[in-house]
Parts: sequence; structure tokens; C-alpha cells
Amino acid sequence: MAKVTIDGQTIEVADGTTILQAARMVGPAVAPPAMCFYTNLKTSGGYCRTCIVEVSKGSDKDPRPMPKLVASCRTTVMDGMEVKNFSSEKVLDARKGVVEFLLLNHPLDCPICDQAGECHLQDLGYEHGSAKTRTDFERRTFEKISLGDKIQLHMTRCILCYRCVKVAEQITDGRVHGVMNRGDVSEISTYIEQAIENDFSGNIIDVCPVGALTDKTFRFKSRVWFTKPVNAHRNCDKCSGKTVIWYKGEEVTRVTGRKNQWGEVEEFICNTCRFDKKQTSDWTIEGPTAVSHQSVISANHYMKMVKPNELTLNNIKPIGMLTEGENK
Ligand code: SF4
Ligand code: FES
Repeated sequence: MAKVTIDGQTIEVADGTTILQAARMVGPAVAPPAMCFYTNLKTSGGYCRTCIVEVSKGSDKDPRPMPKLVASCRTTVMDGMEVKNFSSEKVLDARKGVVEFLLLNHPLDCPICDQAGECHLQDLGYEHGSAKTRTDFERRTFEKISLGDKIQLHMTRCILCYRCVKVAEQITDGRVHGVMNRGDVSEISTYIEQAIENDFSGNIIDVCPVGALTDKTFRFKSRVWFTKPVNAHRNCDKCSGKTVIWYKGEEVTRVTGRKNQWGEVEEFICNTCRFDKKQTSDWTIEGPTAVSHQSVISANHYMKMVKPNELTLNNIKPIGMLTEGENK
């Protein structure tokens, strides 16, 4: 076991735990943002640098600070380590720079992007970005690419986090896309615009932190904050069948995997559940999905119950689950 202190909060974790995982165990008040790490995808992380932290004490054995900021998703804790995240000016300043880099080529087309309202880059920009950019260069642009009849690729919005590549490699039968080229000409591509078609390919939509991969059956149907997410399940022979179905009025506009507090899918779902089951009668409804009150999706549906730094999945309650006296 190793004892690590993050922003003044000490926790004991198993050897081999990364700083990011340890910080998440402490809670959202100290957990760094992460745009490329994904718990359920092996070898993810290490690409985006949003999770950088300052290690002010290496360990009890060697208390020297680490000379540079480190990626917390790729650095394991040592016994006695002391880490600064939100309490470090250096980290906040560097993270601002990282956001600026991520937005160098990312278009500010949130008003017409399907991911708006659940985009991790949008949140990151608000929380850690700066109001101005210093670049004079034109943003690079790409033609939209159709990846079969269900998935659309807007390479222009891609931040090259590699999550969709890991999904294709680890969850699906055969990977037919990847990152082509290197440096500022890198792009996600199937190279010969081959369709991505296999039972679990739809998961690349869920893991994409921005609006680069979108669901053609949902595109332009509704802003996400006009929809109501409901947990539902069905008997499925390919996946767990546990999903979130998103209603607009009576209509099921889309089906997605269930995401945890960190915005990561808990269990990947198959394309049949995602794309072909759009009737309420296909599903057993469990109840309203818990949504963080900070999310725009909670607008009008959920009550503000807790302060942001006290937020955990367990203390978010949808309207209707409030007990008497709580609604203040
Ligand atoms: S398309 Fe999305 S998931 Fe894939 S690398 Fe780009 S940003 Fe990441
Ligand atoms: S989340 Fe750690 S580098 Fe991207």
C-alpha cells in the first residue's frame, strides 16, 4: 500500500495505482480532468496532458520534487508522495496552455454540434481555458466522412485522444480505422473511407470526448438538454443490455451506454441495443438517470442538492426522489 496526499487530502491506495485513480478515489474536488484516459480501455492516457499535476514530494524515501509537471494518468503513486493539482498555480497555468493547444484546431461550432451540453472539451474550456487565443493561423478543416450508415466523422473536431482507436482495437472484432500520419497532419481515418461495421462499433461515439464521432440516428434531432435520460435494460445476447434511453416527449431519440461520475461508459453496449431498439416497448424502464446538477442536461429536470465539491454519484437525486423537506 502507498500513502499519497493530493491537495492536502491523504489516502492510502494499492501499489501501482496512478495519481489520477487515487485522486478520483478522494473525489471530484481534487481529481484532475482527463480527456484521453478511459478506465475500461487498456493503454489509454498519455496523449492529451490535461491531467498534469505537480509532484511536490516524490516519496518518503526520496522526497525530492519531480522536476516537471507529470501526466497523472500515467504516473503511479509512491509511498509518501505529495501531489498538487488545483492548489498549484503552475498546474493551473500549464493546463490553460493545454486547453489552448486543444482548441488550436477545434472549431467553436458548439451551437450546431450534437455533443454540445455533454462535451468534455466544452467543460474543460469553461473550467480551465483562457478567454483569448494567441494563434493567428487558420484552423485546419476536413470534409465530413461517413463511416457507414450509423456513424459520422467530423475530423475537424477531433482532438486525437485515441479513445475510439482503443475501442476498435479492444472491443470490436476488427479495427479498420486509426490515426494516420504524425504531428500536425495527424488524422483519424479509415484511409479508404471504409465503413466501420461490427457489433460494438457504436461505442466509439460514446467514448469520443468531443463531437467528432456522432450518431447518425440522432444527429440534429434535438439539443441534448431538451431530452430526458432514463435508465433501461433489455435481455440482449450480445451485451449486458443496460443502457440509457433518451426521450424527447414520447420518442426515444437515442440509446447510449451508462456513464459514471467521470463520464466514462461502465459497460459497452452492442449496436442492436444502440441503433435498433428505439421503442419504449423494447425496454424495461428502471427510472430517471442520475445527472450531475452541474450538467446542462439537468436543466429543468433535476434539483440542485449538493455543492460541486461534495458531488458523488450517490448524492445526486432526480426530482421525484426528493423526500419531504429536502426541496429547499
Ligand atoms: S474521433 Fe473522438 S475519440 Fe477518436 S481520437 Fe478523435 S476525439 Fe478521440
Ligand atoms: S488524461 Fe492523462 S494525458 Fe490525457
